[in-house]
Amino acid sequence: MRLRLKDQLVRKFDEEVRFFKGWQKDKKGVGAVIPTSSVTARKMASVVDLNSGLSVLELGAGTGVITKAILERGLDRRKVVSVEFARHFYEDLLDRFPGVDFRNGDAFDLHTTLGERHDELFDCVISAVPLLSFTMEKRVELIEDLLSRVPAGRPVLQITYGPFSPVCAMPNRYTISHFDFVLRNIPPAQLWIYRAPQ
Ligand SMILES: C[S@@+](CC[C@H](N)C(=O)[O-])C[C@H]1O[C@@H](n2cnc3c(N)ncnc32)[C@H](O)[C@@H]1O
Repeated sequence: MRLRLKDQLVRKFDEEVRFFKGWQKDKKGVGAVIPTSSVTARKMASVVDLNSGLSVLELGAGTGVITKAILERGLDRRKVVSVEFARHFYEDLLDRFPGVDFRNGDAFDLHTTLGERHDELFDCVISAVPLLSFTMEKRVELIEDLLSRVPAGRPVLQITYGPFSPVCAMPNRYTISHFDFVLRNIPPAQLWIYRAPQ
């Protein structure tokens, strides 16, 4: 029991160091200094519908905190498709979560990144891509692209650290709802859900 706790602490520390090194390499691209907390990751994974029969699309996996929370919901590993831009994170993810379909590529070009799976419908999208590092035009484009990849009404969930939705309102194109504010995260995190009208 004691050994397990020690192993967990060592792994968490190792994850934080790898994440911090990633942030040092590309501050804008990584967008946070330490990984999402497990409390936030579990909240994000809670939107997955285990009975939909569809896979989940994760964006910006980093060191895999949210990937782990999605798998802990009980979803088959083969039902997770996860996109990560940074090669060093991607290589660690392949070792850490065998069976998950990791794609090393750009979330803003999913047609290329998803390859043969580009026209698949997903249950939902869980995104940690640092949207605030991109222009509003690109953010809206991304959200609309993501909404075309899930059934109408299913969520595209985005984590952010600012007080407002990182994507502006487009009432006749999608709805925006505030899902949660998680204080147990550094920095405190806001979770937003975008849905296409049904
Ligand atoms: C704030 S970190 C989140 C990492 C991890 N999911 C977590 O919650 O701790 C953002 C992640 O998105 C990745 N990223 C940034 N731009 C991206 C893009 N255009 N496509 C895919 N991943 C991207 C970064 O490399 C980084 O791993």
